[in-house]
Amino acid sequence: MRKEIDPCNLELFERRVARHEQCSAKYTIALRAGNRETIPMFVADTDFVAAPAIREAVLEAAEYGIYGYSVLPDGYYEAICGWQERRHNWKPNPDFILETPTVIWGLSMAIQTLTEPGDAVIITEPVYAPFAMLINRHGRKLIRNQLFLEERRWQIDFDTFEQQIIDNNVKAFILCNPHNPVGRVWTIDELRQIGAICARHGVYVISDEIHGDIIYSGYQQHSFMSVCPELAPQAIVLHAPSKTFNMPDMKQAHMFILDTELHDRIRAAYDMSFISGASLIGRRACIAAFTQCDDWLDDLNLYLEGNRDFVIDYCHTHLPQVPIAHAEGTFILWPDFNALAAEVGIAPTDVNNWLLKEANVLLSEGTDFGVESAGYQRMIIATQRSVVEEALRRITAAVAGA
Ligand SMILES: Cc1ncc(COP(=O)(O)O)c(C=O)c1O
Repeated sequence: MRKEIDPCNLELFERRVARHEQCSAKYTIALRAGNRETIPMFVADTDFVAAPAIREAVLEAAEYGIYGYSVLPDGYYEAICGWQERRHNWKPNPDFILETPTVIWGLSMAIQTLTEPGDAVIITEPVYAPFAMLINRHGRKLIRNQLFLEERRWQIDFDTFEQQIIDNNVKAFILCNPHNPVGRVWTIDELRQIGAICARHGVYVISDEIHGDIIYSGYQQHSFMSVCPELAPQAIVLHAPSKTFNMPDMKQAHMFILDTELHDRIRAAYDMSFISGASLIGRRACIAAFTQCDDWLDDLNLYLEGNRDFVIDYCHTHLPQVPIAHAEGTFILWPDFNALAAEVGIAPTDVNNWLLKEANVLLSEGTDFGVESAGYQRMIIATQRSVVEEALRRITAAVAGA
């Protein structure tokens, strides 16, 4: 990992681009909820222009002027596998990759294929809200395991997790690795414990690793598949360049399924859905991301780590009533506003609205991520440091004026 950000990359990260006119979901929703000055820290996309190599690849493909049906460009799967080998210390076989338009679409396909209506599927809350949504929408039984906080670090209660699996005859677990919103980068030991429990009870592990490339100093992301290869017949890993390289609108993601039988089952479901994969532009962008952007990403991680440290230090000094667990990766923080709510005399469930009205900052409501998360808010810090600073300054002023 580099120690100092390359000045050209720093200039890119610090560059503010007006996004209201770009059909940006984040800015449009914030504008509708508040006004043009509302600081949006609720959608997990970044405010950074794409890495130069990605922009070049996209512009070159756009220059063709003809956007007809395409085949996979040369080097596509090799780029995806090479990235895993360089950044995550394992080498998937290109034959076992399935391209998906989005990670959530792949998750949905996996749940539909591997479980039956009425089957129980477990998640560890608080967690990315669409996990619960898709389990419910597919008519599966949602089992909520609660993470717990110990010394500012969120943990899995493995005994309860296993007991819930037994009691409910759970068929699948959606693992968030690293974990949105609590910022944990699960250790090898934790992943092995998950693997052992799921192996004992025949539970499919669907590991969502979309945040696996935003990792801070001192931590290492491990793909579930690399830690528990023996679980290949019951494990699926989902990954994408979308979060890391800010290209979710390119609709390019992928699944790794290392077991032939499992791969064929999911492949058959794909074929039935008649879904087509990413566009050529998305695939070219993906190749550029995974072959030419290692240094850019190291710099991005340093910049985001600086944002994380800034927020934690700032709150420690100026907003001590807002404790924040130490994120190990992801550009997401999970501050606890319960004490602040008590201080300003509002209910924990009114915090989101209060922050919007009094500070003009839009965060994500905690209860969307877990039934026990009232008073928590999800804060996306993938923006310019000056924006993060302004948001915190506004919150401090709102508290002072309450
Ligand atoms: C854990 C997790 N999975 C999936 C997604 C969505 O990814 P996609 O747009 O590829 O469906 C997000 C977006 O925030 C996420 O945080």
